[in-house]
Amino acid sequence: MILGTGGTIAGTAQDPSRQWDYRAAQLSVSQLVEAVPALRGVPLETVQVAQVDSKDMSWSVWRALGRALHEHLERDEVAGVVITHGTDTLEETAYLLQALHDGAKPVVLTAAMFPATSPQADGPTNLRDAVRVVQEASRRCLGGVVAVMHGRVWSASAVRKSHSNAPDAFDGGDAPPLVNLRREPVESDEDVVKALAKLGFRAQRAGPAEPAEESWPSAWHPCGRWGWGYLEADPPRVEIVCSHADADGWIVRAMLAHAQTSARPLRGIVVAGTGHGTMHAGLTEALREAVRQGVTVWRSSRVARGGVLPREGDEWPGVPYLTAAQARVALTLSLLGASRKE
Ligand code: SIN
Repeated sequence: MILGTGGTIAGTAQDPSRQWDYRAAQLSVSQLVEAVPALRGVPLETVQVAQVDSKDMSWSVWRALGRALHEHLERDEVAGVVITHGTDTLEETAYLLQALHDGAKPVVLTAAMFPATSPQADGPTNLRDAVRVVQEASRRCLGGVVAVMHGRVWSASAVRKSHSNAPDAFDGGDAPPLVNLRREPVESDEDVVKALAKLGFRAQRAGPAEPAEESWPSAWHPCGRWGWGYLEADPPRVEIVCSHADADGWIVRAMLAHAQTSARPLRGIVVAGTGHGTMHAGLTEALREAVRQGVTVWRSSRVARGGVLPREGDEWPGVPYLTAAQARVALTLSLLGASRKE
């Protein structure tokens, strides 16, 4: 099963020689599959869940995706699912799906840095690789969520876009790829299965389980098994604030002032902090005010590698290794989880 959501992988340009002058999300997912000769004869179904540039990703698209995954993963004849996606927010969707998926079948996100009309189009190879990873994982009864880009398989909680225009645009922060498909052909190498099983993919389970009992923020590791039902609720408002020179907390106070009249009040803030999750003293003061008004604050880091280290006297939980955008998803789910228990 291939679920299409748009992105550059489905993008087209008027003039294919003008690499960056294109529109994302133009071709249907069935057109993408038809363009890959290696997929001819593979029993595939396609469903167009959305057609968006993923910079415009929204909870409603995630909800539609969750519904489609729920429906199709339940079907015995579906071995697993590939999702075609934009690169810009792939790390958020990957993290979200991993948190919700029961892990019973493989779900693989893939994307492209060049549009389908480009002479350098990378989508067809990425799509072929993604299908192979689903086939291989399914054959070995492995499930979970990973991302496949440029010949590498990434854990859904580690993957992040780290280059704005290179074909090799993703990395895993401090985490290496689970598998390098170019060095370890997925069809043949036992090590691939071992690597997939190490992170993200694991032995198939009998069926969906209850969400893990552990409390957030300690539950941001693979296969959260929180269930697709989380996407049916309206999400609480969670914003990201960056710490930087002169960060005096003005933006936080502006949000708090606006929140008093907003239909969807502010419930959480993720700080993209300096270094290992530190922040400007002026911003800290404003965040204390936010906490006094019932807002939950989590800390992440704006630094590419290393993440947040716990320190004596930390005022707010630090998210160890997620990007700020992934931490926003984690805090949203955490707040939703808390409200479901009330
Ligand atoms: C998008 O994220 O949909 C556009 C950019 C891309 O896919 O590379």
